[in-house]
Amino acid sequence: MKTDSAVELRGWRLDRASETPLFRQLYLHVRSSIVSGGMSAGARLPSTRDFARATGVSRASAVAAYEQLLAEGYIEGRVGAGTFVAHDLPRGIEPRAIKRPPPARPSLPAKRFPVLDEAALAGDQRPFGTGRSLMDARSVDAWRRLTLRALRGFDPVHRGYSDPRGLPALRTAIAEYVQATRAVRCEPDQIVVTAGTMHAIDIVIRALLSPGDGVWVEDPGYATTHAALIASGLVPCPIPVDAQGIVVASGIRSAPKARAVFITPSHQFPLGVTLSMARRLELLAWARESGAWIVEDDYHSDFRYAGRPLASLQGLDDAERVIYVGTLNKALFPGLRIGYAIVPQPALGSFIGARFLTDRQPPSITQLTLTAFIAEGHLAAHIRRIRQSYRDQRDALVGGLRRHLGETVSVDPPDQGLHLTAFLRHARSDVEIAVTAREHGVIARPLSRFYHQAPPRKGLLLGFAGYPRQMIVPAVAKLARAIGRH
Ligand SMILES: Cc1ncc(COP(=O)(O)O)c(C=O)c1O
Repeated sequence: MKTDSAVELRGWRLDRASETPLFRQLYLHVRSSIVSGGMSAGARLPSTRDFARATGVSRASAVAAYEQLLAEGYIEGRVGAGTFVAHDLPRGIEPRAIKRPPPARPSLPAKRFPVLDEAALAGDQRPFGTGRSLMDARSVDAWRRLTLRALRGFDPVHRGYSDPRGLPALRTAIAEYVQATRAVRCEPDQIVVTAGTMHAIDIVIRALLSPGDGVWVEDPGYATTHAALIASGLVPCPIPVDAQGIVVASGIRSAPKARAVFITPSHQFPLGVTLSMARRLELLAWARESGAWIVEDDYHSDFRYAGRPLASLQGLDDAERVIYVGTLNKALFPGLRIGYAIVPQPALGSFIGARFLTDRQPPSITQLTLTAFIAEGHLAAHIRRIRQSYRDQRDALVGGLRRHLGETVSVDPPDQGLHLTAFLRHARSDVEIAVTAREHGVIARPLSRFYHQAPPRKGLLLGFAGYPRQMIVPAVAKLARAIGRH
């Protein structure tokens, strides 16, 4: 069919099943006729009424398509005369196929750390991902209310630039919280609010270390920190971890001149062991004598299920060597993106400078909401309530694993944290089991992937925090089927 103008409709059909709106299909068709030269400059277009009739769409859709073409200059309207293809279209505007360069070789960390591919998994809702948490209705409600209050009171002082360390009221609230719960010794002035743990680690690297510096990392350890160190040109020295945590003597033997150690003392990632008091003192003595920094990643400390709360390493430090890194992305929700570093005085100026240069200051509305959430007791109440749920979820997972898998796995309920490690007793590959588990709808991260030089143990990292009990029970059965297939 041809209208009284140059718009060619033969062989062209609207796709009514498509997600692309009808007006946009019309617009795209006319635009492509123009840019391909099928309609030449000055050619007359039908009235929107005729065009709507000829194409079978509503008049409103035809008008919307024309308006878009007019706004972008493909067509022009002359009062009383109609609508025409624009005269001043440049020649050769037809979009050409983009010539893509050959794919870039993967960057070093991507090549060395296939676990980074799993970042894509972070949004996966299925059990037993390790990056999820739960918030009950009361906490969600309080968070909403306080966000609205922060927005309502949004005063000019909160719209401008402010202290790169974060709002004083938030730093005071955090200082009181960590002094009470983690025996951290600090003044609010030493607290620098960040976008989470990895941001704090990035600032440590920029402010206090230089490319080529050797640094100790736990083996096995947190792959994301390891990748960040490599990406910044540092040289990670993997130090083995045993039942007492990092083997300090081994670090002193193999890399005595390291400039820093990155460590998870209260809940070692991924094994879950706690750094013993003897090792803590040994580590602090080495840092004091060598002038190295200790970066204490205290990511899971809010959730302890048995025994007394564990004091932080920072609280034992009398030589200003420990940079304590805390996060609220675990205690509350990962999408929050708020953490903090507690920085000893000698490092504070450089640390604040590097924070300022990479991300000038934390966002004000989130800070206002979080300040009220902590200061008005919601954080402490949330942790008290949710700790009970996490303990039940942990028990459901351990019970299910023992029931379904018996001797195949060895699993101890962890006293702390949001995940557990189920060690595999047989010789099969945990990487392959993880692939099969995923096919069965279950996420299980293979433990062997977190090792560097130490002989890898086989096991599965299973997060229990993000999944209510009723999701855990059937998911364990699926995991057992996946393991059974090997
Ligand atoms: C060892 C360790 N540290 C810190 C974090 C939290 O990182 P962030 O605060 O950047 O969300 C995680 C998250 O999984 C972790 O496993």
